[in-house]
Amino acid sequence: LFRSLGEVETLDGYHAQVRGRNVRVFCSNNYLGLADDPRVVDAARRAIERWGWGAGSSRLISGTTADHAALERKIASFKGVQGSLLFGSGYLANLAAVRSAAGDGDVIFMDKLCHASLIDAARCSGAEIRVYPHKRYERLERLLSRYASKSRRVIVTDSIFSMDGDVADLVALVEIKKRWNAALIVDEAHATGVLGEFGRGAAEMLGVEDEIDVSVGTLSKALGGIGGFITGGRTLIDFLINTARSFIYTTSLPAAACAAASAAIDIVQSEPERRNRLNELADYFRESIREKLGLDSGDGRTQIASIVLGDPEVATKAADRLLELGFLVPAIRPPTTPPGTSRLRISLTAAMSRMDVDDLVEALGCALEPLRK
Ligand SMILES: Cc1ncc(COP(=O)(O)O)c(C=O)c1O
Repeated sequence: LFRSLGEVETLDGYHAQVRGRNVRVFCSNNYLGLADDPRVVDAARRAIERWGWGAGSSRLISGTTADHAALERKIASFKGVQGSLLFGSGYLANLAAVRSAAGDGDVIFMDKLCHASLIDAARCSGAEIRVYPHKRYERLERLLSRYASKSRRVIVTDSIFSMDGDVADLVALVEIKKRWNAALIVDEAHATGVLGEFGRGAAEMLGVEDEIDVSVGTLSKALGGIGGFITGGRTLIDFLINTARSFIYTTSLPAAACAAASAAIDIVQSEPERRNRLNELADYFRESIREKLGLDSGDGRTQIASIVLGDPEVATKAADRLLELGFLVPAIRPPTTPPGTSRLRISLTAAMSRMDVDDLVEALGCALEPLRK
């Protein structure tokens, strides 16, 4: 279970060189291929020429450039809300989102498979934490009924779960939060740019955007950059600017990261074919592993798919064999996933073709065959 860092020696789209081998990268969150899109790279380059690289200061001092302000306006308009606020990462945005809603004396209800950043945020908030089994919403209701007298109740969930690629039932969660007068925080890290007709995320896809109290997104996955954001009403944004420690006490993102993200959002809005293609490839991958290998990747239907192998050693061996065969697919092991659920986590990008998927499925067959005996 000891972790060490593997170096990527060269990278061109989803083709890389790792440990001297040419591999196809099936584990990146650069889902729409925007990290190296020439328009995104160009926007970053122009911003560096204008502002230099580092922001040199936190947002409330001198770290808010025209590019930061323009990106916040663009995210708000993309999401159709009054305001947005940028953070140095999605992790930092989640810290602020949860702390803005709950503190001492409150209760946070979280899905068992919430991302580590949400767990850390809940721990930092000082609120009591109650965990419900993954997507078992009747259990959530039972917990809520036990804490009906608490001053504030806050439900926290990922929209696309980062390891299994399945989607939270936000319609059910909205009904529950209304029934129990709770607040709902949704982390759309993996869904931003990917789900919904306009790429705004799972809440858009499920028609409940107006019912989410605090929505979090990242610039670091489908948008191909770095940074995180919270969207919501003006009061929420002002509250965060004045109180969120992970916003106030840290250096602002480089302006170039903001300019690049603005260009990426333009592409998300003007090229829906990227997310459509990604979603089609995800269906094709699941169908292929089911038909050709008899494998099931759970009830997810998104660009993230896990093949759960159980034992960490088995998962590591499978990942090593895949690397030999030219595919970078990491073994994800505890504590990232619960004990007994070590897995291969596969993520697709819109730049890939069906042939790439066919090749991966064949390699998975070779890598897993000796381990099944
Ligand atoms: C569900 C989820 N939320 C938040 C984050 C953190 O985002 P970032 O990498 O931008 O800090 C991640 C990714 O690492 C994630 O998977």
